[in-house]
Amino acid sequence: MSVTIERLNARPRADSELATLSDGAWPAFISADKTVAAIWDRVRGEFAHLELAAVAASGLVATGWAVPVRWNGTLGDLPAGFTGTLLRALANFDGNAAPNTLVICAAQLHPGVQRTGLAARLLNAFIDLAPGYGLESVIVPLRPTLKHRYPLTPIGSYAGWTRDDGQALDPWLRTHLRMGAKVLCPIEVSQTMTGTVPEWESWTGLVFPASGTYVIDGGLATLDVDTEQDNGTYVEPGIWLQHPVISGRNVGSSL
Ligand SMILES: CC(C)(COP(=O)(O)OP(=O)(O)OC[C@H]1O[C@@H](n2cnc3c(N)ncnc32)[C@H](O)[C@@H]1OP(=O)(O)O)[C@@H](O)C(=O)NCCC(=O)NCCS
Repeated sequence: MSVTIERLNARPRADSELATLSDGAWPAFISADKTVAAIWDRVRGEFAHLELAAVAASGLVATGWAVPVRWNGTLGDLPAGFTGTLLRALANFDGNAAPNTLVICAAQLHPGVQRTGLAARLLNAFIDLAPGYGLESVIVPLRPTLKHRYPLTPIGSYAGWTRDDGQALDPWLRTHLRMGAKVLCPIEVSQTMTGTVPEWESWTGLVFPASGTYVIDGGLATLDVDTEQDNGTYVEPGIWLQHPVISGRNVGSSL
């Protein structure tokens, strides 16, 4: 199948095309991070030049997006996960602090094109964009795709789990590591999702009759529910990765 990678804003995209791609790709509570919700439109607007699309004859088959941040290259200066990345991207933008790092925030593939190598192609397209914007590092606050099957396992342990062949147990982590990325450190708090008990019940399809800790579908960790306060809090972990940047590899790229 022939697939072209281009900027998402290279041409108009029907909302239905974008919705088809994200349908079923994310748990319903993914948008319940109030900090992210408050800045979401602005982030996507300011950095629209860092959104990519993969297009086949059938239409849009994958998208991904990234933001630029200033990072001094140390573990201590990494943004506070996914949410901290978006906050820093805007703070750097507003403060005229020249960014030096591309953060790949998300990628999603239509189920029909998964396991075809397109995911790695899309990641490489991001890595190739970086030098053209003066961004010398590429990092990822990874949302590991199999972690939801191990919601009780600390992220630091999970990140180190391997299969019999020595490769990472997590499929999405495996793809990045195979491309040459390295694990920087686990992210204990990448996002914090909050909502009322009824909201959590609608997002998860469960009922929460009493306060406590619950395993939820699609959750990389557990949900804490407080019925007296009428709230639920879910803290999503992740894994910081860094990709090597090969300067000049994208000479001739049309992106
Ligand atoms: C994450 C995502 C982009 C990866 O795309 P992909 O096409 O599956 O990636 P790859 O082809 O590189 O596959 C990676 C590995 O996962 C395996 N895999 C993919 N889908 C699988 C599935 N449903 N069940 C089991 N294994 C699966 C592949 O076989 C491959 O294994 P290998 O390393 O042994 O070869 C895609 O699954 C997706 O869009 N998911 C929904 C959105 C999401 O979670 N994005 C990531 C967070 S931003």
